[in-house]
Parts: sequence; structure tokens; C-alpha cells
Amino acid sequence: MSATANVCVVIPAAGLGERLGLNQPKAFVEINNWSLLSLTIKRVLEIERVGHLIIAVPAEFKTPALDHIDRALRDANKKIPFDVVSGGVTRTESVKNSLLALDQLDSFVLVHDAARPFVPQSVFDDVIAKLDSGSKVVIPVIPVADTIKTVNEKSEVLNTLDRTQLRAVQTPQGFAREVLSEIYATANLQPTTDDAGLAELAGINVSTVAGAVESFKITTPFDLEMATNFMNRK
Ligand code: CTP
Ligand code: MG
Repeated sequence: MSATANVCVVIPAAGLGERLGLNQPKAFVEINNWSLLSLTIKRVLEIERVGHLIIAVPAEFKTPALDHIDRALRDANKKIPFDVVSGGVTRTESVKNSLLALDQLDSFVLVHDAARPFVPQSVFDDVIAKLDSGSKVVIPVIPVADTIKTVNEKSEVLNTLDRTQLRAVQTPQGFAREVLSEIYATANLQPTTDDAGLAELAGINVSTVAGAVESFKITTPFDLEMATNFMNRK
């Protein structure tokens, strides 16, 4: 694949943000007057190769989403085609709905959570470079800092996993378009917590690149506080 292959970014932004507990979909929660959705789109627009966006939001947020997208495009002074689709009950369904808006020109598809607005550009670049070099599925990972144990239903420890072999998985997860379309079309769509999980189930090789601590996912009120501090640093 040439190093000019068109990149489409799918942004699942249709989650309800239940763990954040603010009674609104998480992507529309704001930090310093910017929604997580706008912040994430702004970051994505910094990547030169991105030529198409597909954004999944809760059905009743399709119209308000347009303002958040427009604001990010204006701030980045960019004009690229985008589609807004209705999300599903699970993230897997939201991504599946998004894939219906893919274009033949989209050679690579990067799926990136709206809840990770601070992912460094270098992670996008590394994922795209690995796809350029022929990998079909690429995910950013970071080493695990905590010791991880498995427990039974009574929360009693069963065993300790070998931390040197464990990685925490982030987004953007990159795919050759045909591979992503195929795994979503053929898998019987067990909801997975990431997209590469479906590739693994289909027996497709998954490559990794170094993720980044800045790519943390905003999940809990503490994460939102951390994100606010991070944005206001210096
Ligand atoms: N997502 C989605 N559609 C869903 C569920 C999640 O598009 N049905 C998106 C979220 O908007 C988020 C990303 O997938 O950008 C990661 O999901 P998560 O952090 O779990 O977000 P929420 O589902 O919103 O949070 P919670 O699980 O606490 O409700
Ligand atoms: Mg969720």
C-alpha cells in the first residue's frame, strides 16, 4: 500500500457515560467549554493523511453533533468529508453501523474512542506507518504497571499473571479497510471491548505499536478531573 493511502477515522461516540455519571452521553461532556467529541476530532484533524471521518453518536444527538464537528473543523481550518451515524447499544454495534458509511477510497480505517482526546499525534503516525508497511491490524499498547491477578466469583485470588507478557490496549486501532469490513460482517458480533478482538477471533495477525500514557480513556469522574488538569497544565 502506498504511503498516500487515504485514511478514514471512525469515532465511536455513542456511549452513555454511565460510569462518569453526568446523565449525558460522555462525548458531549465538556472540559474548558470543549466537548470531548470536539477535542478528539481536533486531534484527529492534525493528522495530515486523514481524509474522511465517521462519527457514531446516540440517535437523538445526530443534529447537535453537527455543531461539535463543525466547531472542530473550523478550529483546525480544514474541510474533509464526514458522516454522522446512529450508534448502537454496544460499542461493537456503533462501530458496525459506522462501517456502512465507509468509502471505496478509504484504504485504511482507524477506530478511535471519543473518550481519548489527548492521544499524541505520534501514535496515529506510528499506526499508519505500520499499515503502510503491510500490517492488516495494528493496535497501540502500553506495559501494565500494576500486578494483575485473576479471582473467582468470591473475589478470592486464583493466580498471578506474568506481567512481562501483559499489555494494556488503547486506540486508535488501525485496519486495512477490507479486513475491518470483513471481520465485522462475518463475526457473529459478540460485543468485544476493542475492535482488534474480532480480528483475533478470526485468526488474523494483530501487530502492536507503542501507545502513550496521554491516551488514557476518560471513564470515571476522577479521569475527568485528571483530564481537566492535564488540559490546563503549564
Ligand atoms: N461507545 C459507542 N457506543 C456504545 C458504547 C460506547 O460508540 N454503545 C463509545 C463511547 O462513546 C466511547 C468509547 O466507545 O467513546 C469507549 O466506551 P466507554 O468508555 O465504555 O464509554 P461509555 O460507554 O460512554 O461509558 P460507560 O461504559 O461508563 O457508560
Ligand atoms: Mg461503555
